[in-house]
Amino acid sequence: MRGFVLLSTGHQMPMVGLGTWKSAPGQVKQAVLTALDCGYRHIDCAAAYSNEQEVGEALALRIGPGKPLHREEVFVTSKLWNTKHEPEDVEAACQTTLTDLGLSYLDMYLMHWPMAFQRGTELLPRREDGSVCYSDTHYRETWKAMESLVDKGLVKAIGLSNFNARQMDDILSMAKHKPVVNQVECHPYLSQQPLIAHCRSQGVCVTAYSPLGSGDRPWASPNEPALLEDSGLQAIALRYEKSPAQIILRWHIQKEVTCVPKSVTPSRIQQNLQVFDFILSEEDMALINSFNRNERFIIPTVNNGGKKVWRDYEHPHFPFHNSY
Ligand code: A2P
Repeated sequence: MRGFVLLSTGHQMPMVGLGTWKSAPGQVKQAVLTALDCGYRHIDCAAAYSNEQEVGEALALRIGPGKPLHREEVFVTSKLWNTKHEPEDVEAACQTTLTDLGLSYLDMYLMHWPMAFQRGTELLPRREDGSVCYSDTHYRETWKAMESLVDKGLVKAIGLSNFNARQMDDILSMAKHKPVVNQVECHPYLSQQPLIAHCRSQGVCVTAYSPLGSGDRPWASPNEPALLEDSGLQAIALRYEKSPAQIILRWHIQKEVTCVPKSVTPSRIQQNLQVFDFILSEEDMALINSFNRNERFIIPTVNNGGKKVWRDYEHPHFPFHNSY
């Protein structure tokens, strides 16, 4: 199986990219260097990860005249944060990301979430009771502003993240530049089969975030299932003489889902790219499909002094109500 997908823009996107969410400052630069040095050509970033400057330091050491890589050889994605949905804020937000990453264009720019937050510099503007301050800006308005980034050459392609099928269709129905990607949580416990099928029917590529089950999400509790320790998965890994992480990544790839596993550990970064030298049988693909529990690990909630405030569900554009 080849290591790229062909996007609707005609560009190629490497199937495996390095995820950088939760990669701490002080660690992410080395992680990106390790990744580029061992063959990754796809780095997944976001303004909200608060580490793009450090990612940029790594890119600057490896990309450019006299460096090992040309800019065109590396596919870089970033994401517009929820506080920047106001159409007049979109270009400046993109420029900030470009400056932080030290790039003149992005290969992909995603709307990080369909919900808009109150404008400003705070990532998570909140009221005194801890609830998030939203804004009424509709994602359709934000999308139009993102389209002009393509026209201006700041980004090669635009796409969505955390959009459900209905919201994606809403964008598709009005878009001048169609969304090229929808990046969503996806792993064997949340296999997203209906959404993947729908995206495919619309020519939208699915990228899996938290493809390994996001064991290091800050709110993980010991009672929640740990995907990488799943005994069924471990049994398959033993049979293929691969790690559970490699089995999962291979499962994504064989479904033509691109994925962005996060790691700051050199051996794991390397291991996560070594997934093109074996093939899971149809039976094992079906077996891994059967692990699905519709278990969503990444639900945006606000932890208010230990008490979860589920106000995100009140937002009209919260994506995970009733639609896949
Ligand atoms: P670390 O960054 O300490 O190496 P996800 O991509 O689903 O969000 O998962 C990220 C988590 O999975 C991190 O805790 C990361 O740890 C861990 N991880 C990444 N690759 C592997 C691997 N090959 N084996 C085990 N754990 C991994």
